[in-house]
Amino acid sequence: MNIPFGDLKRQYIAQKPEIDQAIQTVLNSGWFVLGEQGHRFERAFAKYCGAKHGIGVGSGTDALHLGLKACGVQAGDEVITVAHTATPTASGISLLGAIPVFIDIDPESYTLNPNLIEAAITPKTKAILPVHLYGQAADMNAILHIAQKHHLPVVEDCAQAHGTIYGNHKVGTLGDVGCFSFYPSKNLGALGDAGIIITNQDHLAHQVQLLRNYGSITRDVHEILGANSRLDEIQAAILNAKLGQLDAGNKRRQEIAQRYSTSIKHSDIQHPTPKDWGTHTYHLYVIQTSNRDLLRKHLEKCGISTGIHYPTPIHKQPAYAHLSTQPLPVTEHIVNQIVSLPIFPELTDAEIDHIVQSVNAFPA
Ligand SMILES: Cc1ncc(COP(=O)(O)O)c(C=O)c1O
Repeated sequence: MNIPFGDLKRQYIAQKPEIDQAIQTVLNSGWFVLGEQGHRFERAFAKYCGAKHGIGVGSGTDALHLGLKACGVQAGDEVITVAHTATPTASGISLLGAIPVFIDIDPESYTLNPNLIEAAITPKTKAILPVHLYGQAADMNAILHIAQKHHLPVVEDCAQAHGTIYGNHKVGTLGDVGCFSFYPSKNLGALGDAGIIITNQDHLAHQVQLLRNYGSITRDVHEILGANSRLDEIQAAILNAKLGQLDAGNKRRQEIAQRYSTSIKHSDIQHPTPKDWGTHTYHLYVIQTSNRDLLRKHLEKCGISTGIHYPTPIHKQPAYAHLSTQPLPVTEHIVNQIVSLPIFPELTDAEIDHIVQSVNAFPA
């Protein structure tokens, strides 16, 4: 049996008629950028999240970049975030000429540890950027409390948490702006690059609308300096076709996670810890083991692909080596222990069984 880490072709086949139809509709319309499909998706996704506004952009990285800029972050400002995340979290900050200040994570949720925020705040701090990693929310109440105390905006990186709930709210609606990626492998994925910013604040929505379109909302009037980062009509139509499946996909991911956590019984394996502050939508199922490399080799022999998310924390990446970040003991410890098992809605029960049996057969 060969089990891939992800299989976007299976996902496409499962929804082929709707997706083909969506693409054909756009081709027939002759309108490809900033049109009906994009507006429809912006409204639908904002409604799904419980936000007032949705503004489609070109990618998750752009969503972070433009979201921070709309919140007033400028070159030379500092933004507090984590190093244990996908590198584009920090790119969104660096693209503005701002400086990411990396702090450590909570060892159970793998998300920004709120207890470490205040020590990292300086007069240059202009935003806090928590990441809802692997499908689980960061501890937003604690983060928002500190942000309010210091009058700092909160920009949520929701790239791995479509549909995740914290308290009674979907992620992306708790801070000032929520930034999503629709990279194809995400829980809601386009068939190319795409992203969105959601917000409840009218002035931030207006700023992002300007920033994504050369600083212009009214044709030939350029109010501010802007970028070109728009959600195109083909991607928006595909997302319109797929949005209705997001909850079912997340439910299936939760079922698979449940199978793994109850059936994988191994003395050297630590399962994810779902926190009681919200739901976990399992974009990734990340376990920890002291024998990571041997486990991966063993699973490869069993025909199972695995991943590491992420092997090198951002402060150890060449692009960020100049920042002289303080040691981050939790981050630096777990990056050598983590392994991601395949988890995607189209995984079959037989494949799940094979993964469970193979992990259990790994010598302790
Ligand atoms: C946590 C996180 N933030 C940001 C991004 C960037 O999204 P995109 O690839 O759409 O630019 C990603 C996706 O790779 C991500 O996983």
